[in-house]
Amino acid sequence: MIDWHCHILPGLDDGAADRAQSLAMAAALAAAGFSTVYCTPHLMRGCYEAANDQVRRGVSELQQCLNQEGIPLKLLAGREYCLDEYLLPALEDPLPLGDSRQVLVEIPPGITADMVRRLSYDMVRAGFTPVIAHPERCHLLEPATDRRAEGRGLLGALKGMLAGKGRRTMDERLSDTTGNPLLDYLRDLGCSFQGNLGSFSGFYGRQVRSVAEALHERGLYDRYGSDLHTPEQAARVLCSPRPADAK
Ligand SMILES: [Fe+2]
Repeated sequence: MIDWHCHILPGLDDGAADRAQSLAMAAALAAAGFSTVYCTPHLMRGCYEAANDQVRRGVSELQQCLNQEGIPLKLLAGREYCLDEYLLPALEDPLPLGDSRQVLVEIPPGITADMVRRLSYDMVRAGFTPVIAHPERCHLLEPATDRRAEGRGLLGALKGMLAGKGRRTMDERLSDTTGNPLLDYLRDLGCSFQGNLGSFSGFYGRQVRSVAEALHERGLYDRYGSDLHTPEQAARVLCSPRPADAK
């Protein structure tokens, strides 16, 4: 399995405080079946501002430690960017996920839907694929309630019949809309979506778990991450239930 989002590097953000914590987190991830971990410390103006070279050096040094300790994990560099006004300037010297143009980005509280649209569009126009971190934890991205989704589905089915398409399957209806226009926009823009494993195990509470399950039912996620910050979180984040398509 691949962990696409992890704060395992020591001393760069609010994740692992020191190398001992990093090693404990690595051991827990390996024991849970992970083989590859993207190290994604925050880049957040005024809070966490480690330079890209510090991240790369941190990956290299921690990888050496893992090798010496016999912990079978491959580490790759990345960052967790913040979708704000500082993002595009920061991406002039990007640190994407491994050897790709995919950029992990979290949507901060307080941002408007219009800003999310504009900044994500600008990212794509600059040649990056936004990988939206834990969309289930963002209120702007909550899908419609079941009743509203059913209404949209029924309307969609009627439109399809009037257009001569006949009866449509549930999968076809769900693929039309998530019931949230902003989520639809991001998906249609080509964004990827990374779910947090802890969201499914209830680590963030019932509401987040329910949103995560709804987004999973709609087939939104294409990858998952632990978003581990401390060794103590591992037991509650890496336990079941876990999405069947986590790999
Ligand atoms: Fe994170």
